Amino acid sequence: MKTQVAIIGAGPSGLLLGQLLHKAGISNVILERQSPDYVLSRIRAGVLEQGMVDLLRQAGVHQRMDAEGLVHTGFELALNGRRAHIDLKTLTGGKTVMIYGQTEVTRDLMAAREAAGAQTIYEASNARPHDMKGEQPYVTYEKDGVEHRLDCDYIAGCDGFHGVARQSIPAETLKVFERVYPFGWLGILADTPPVNEELVYATHERGFALCSMRSNTRTRYYVQVGAEEKVEDWSDERFWNELKARLPQDLADKMVTGPSIEKSIAPLRSFVVEPMQYGRMFLVGDAAHIVPPTGAKGLNLAASDVSTLFNILKKVYEEGRTDLLEKYSEVCLRRVWKAERFSWWMTSMLHKFDDNDAFSQRIQQTELDYFVSSEAGRQTIAENYVGLPYETIE
Ligand code: APR
Ligand code: PHB
Repeated sequence: MKTQVAIIGAGPSGLLLGQLLHKAGISNVILERQSPDYVLSRIRAGVLEQGMVDLLRQAGVHQRMDAEGLVHTGFELALNGRRAHIDLKTLTGGKTVMIYGQTEVTRDLMAAREAAGAQTIYEASNARPHDMKGEQPYVTYEKDGVEHRLDCDYIAGCDGFHGVARQSIPAETLKVFERVYPFGWLGILADTPPVNEELVYATHERGFALCSMRSNTRTRYYVQVGAEEKVEDWSDERFWNELKARLPQDLADKMVTGPSIEKSIAPLRSFVVEPMQYGRMFLVGDAAHIVPPTGAKGLNLAASDVSTLFNILKKVYEEGRTDLLEKYSEVCLRRVWKAERFSWWMTSMLHKFDDNDAFSQRIQQTELDYFVSSEAGRQTIAENYVGLPYETIE
């Protein structure tokens, strides 16, 4: 089989890239290790930056998002019981974010791909990229016990943090930057009305908490827990009590609780690999970088990588601009590192670090106090939260 772009992974990165390429008349095949149902069963993030919303519109996958997504013009910070508002729209000259779950984005992209008749091979095992440094790379994989070969011009490694693409690059050509945080987030999904119209990021002496949502009837809440905690030890009741204990009293009093539909613990990590390309193979999204979820940047960074790769490939195929190919990594990394910085900073400011001494604790509290009480501080938070601009490819 032959295609122009072989895409490994049918998460949001692979599906969005595939859809944009398809619309531009560039053929592509997606190889995905799991089944579609499995891919859709993963509960992930839910805040889309304007740039990602625009990209989904460009891909023609926006109807349900526009109908069901919630436009948020701000969010709240709750600092040991005191509430502060970050008015995103006013502070950024009109920018907002869209609350629409990654699972729904993925569902819409899968449906659009199917309607377009583009090929996705699910349950493709043992995918391996070959000859990435040569002129004619290819990917081998197995389906139902039979080995296949997919010839292509370029390979997009959209296969997440544990994927094969990054692992196929000789280790000595990659530089890894990493920080693992000494805690995780315990999250639950519940069919309860949100406690507040906007998201609430809460810092408290018991630890961080976040009140998020998927819709006006479905909530996603998190509490910071120790890295060694086990989800089995957290009954719904224990979770709700801990969440309420970390929120300002008026919010705790208003909280509607209910049975969890999903409950899991995610570790927090910052990770970047450089460069994000190896010959004719490009790493996209979680395959190249991970952020802690505090800034809601993971999915959005995947979208900006997709935008960069798509715009480069479009110019390569339409205008013969092969000179742009080597720019992919540096263009992506400029934006990736800014989002890494913001996510690290939000994480550092809002979480409880057990080994912080008294001086560090006061500095942490003062930094937060300074940022929320100064217009310039709130503006800095807001411009990063709504998402920094995408670079134009010229
Ligand atoms: N072969 C084929 N597919 C693979 C392989 C492999 N060897 N390894 C992983 N995959 C698939 C996974 O099953 C998954 O469906 O690649 C996909 C990767 O998807 P994600 O992990 O969601 O990564 P990505 O598409 O980059 O999405 C951006 O950023 O912060 C996060 O929550 C955010 O998951 C989102 C991600
Ligand atoms: C979520 O809704 O899952 C969510 C929202 C904001 C974040 C992280 C996660 O910063």
